[in-house]
Amino acid sequence: MNEYVSVVRGVGGHLPARVLTNADLGVMVDTSDQWITERTGIRKRHIAADGETTSDLAAAAARKALHAGGLGPDDIDLIVLATATPDYTFPATATIVQNKLGITRGAAFDVQAVCSGFVYALATADNFLARGQFERALVIGAETFSRIIDWSDRTTCVLFGDGAGALVLERQDKAIAGDRGVKSVHLRSDGRYKDMLYVDGGPSTTQTVGHLKMIGNQVFKHAVSKISESVRAAVDQAGRHIDEVDWFVPHQANMRINQMVAHKLGVPEDKVVHNIQRYGNTTAATIPIGLSESFAEGKLCEGTTVLSAAFGSGFTWAGAVMRF
Ligand code: UT7
Repeated sequence: MNEYVSVVRGVGGHLPARVLTNADLGVMVDTSDQWITERTGIRKRHIAADGETTSDLAAAAARKALHAGGLGPDDIDLIVLATATPDYTFPATATIVQNKLGITRGAAFDVQAVCSGFVYALATADNFLARGQFERALVIGAETFSRIIDWSDRTTCVLFGDGAGALVLERQDKAIAGDRGVKSVHLRSDGRYKDMLYVDGGPSTTQTVGHLKMIGNQVFKHAVSKISESVRAAVDQAGRHIDEVDWFVPHQANMRINQMVAHKLGVPEDKVVHNIQRYGNTTAATIPIGLSESFAEGKLCEGTTVLSAAFGSGFTWAGAVMRF
């Protein structure tokens, strides 16, 4: 029987055109550029236009990832899309993206693990490919969190932005792939902490979409410890040492969280990819956007080992090691 691994063929990211700066927010709520920059690292974020949906952003990112890999929609037989802001309650946003890309074969579905969603989606696609069940997958993180933000709540509205990122994973024989591919994925969750970060609406509770609620400083502490746990576990499972990681592309919720994690684990600051300054927290999209920017800048080339980790509502937390 063949032994398969999932190899990255392409990555792409997409941000909506409209930009909302800290100064813009200062007009809307009692906040300041100084507070937001010092506490989070964020300077601006992109916001979807009226009528611009999560699936629009996702499809645009997917097209870029396919293009980067020299592939077309016909090459894809699986779409796993991570989002907490789907176009509709159902059908899955993945099927809407599938249709926008003109794909009529294979399977498409969503996963819901909020900020950890991209790593959960990666794990799901990786398992299907490793079993030989599908050949090439689009793994997408896409969000329009601007739609579930309470824009009068300064403690949350300054933090989030909209965007999407996508990665094409291809099944390859282990003998051909060599050392490339997804080396490990670590997934964890603990539902006891739901009330620290949640949306106060949904089909089965209020029949509304609801707004995001967060006890930020509590979430912060958990984020630092759980992301560190996932990093250690993913690196161990990959049979690597932290020093062998070329780039750390973490979830972007707060620049201070990633700096603390890097410091705690001995990852040099110049190996950590930050883009929260420009995009804020795009939730499930942060990691694939970070990967796509790193790829475009030439940081991720064949033989590069990249580590990603995330933490989010649930709580969920996750880490992954990939070798390009
Ligand atoms: O991706 C999912 C996971 N999410 C996260 O990991 C987010 C984790 N949390 C955080 O990033 C940080 O906790 C925040 C950025 C949300 C908040 O920063 P903090 O340093 O933990 O501040 P704090 O919540 O302890 O609030 C400090 C003060 C408070 O005022 P008082 O009570 O000390 O008078 C807040 O009311 O800052 C005030 N404050 C603000 N002031 C100006 C809160 N938000 C703002 C604001 N502008 N936007």
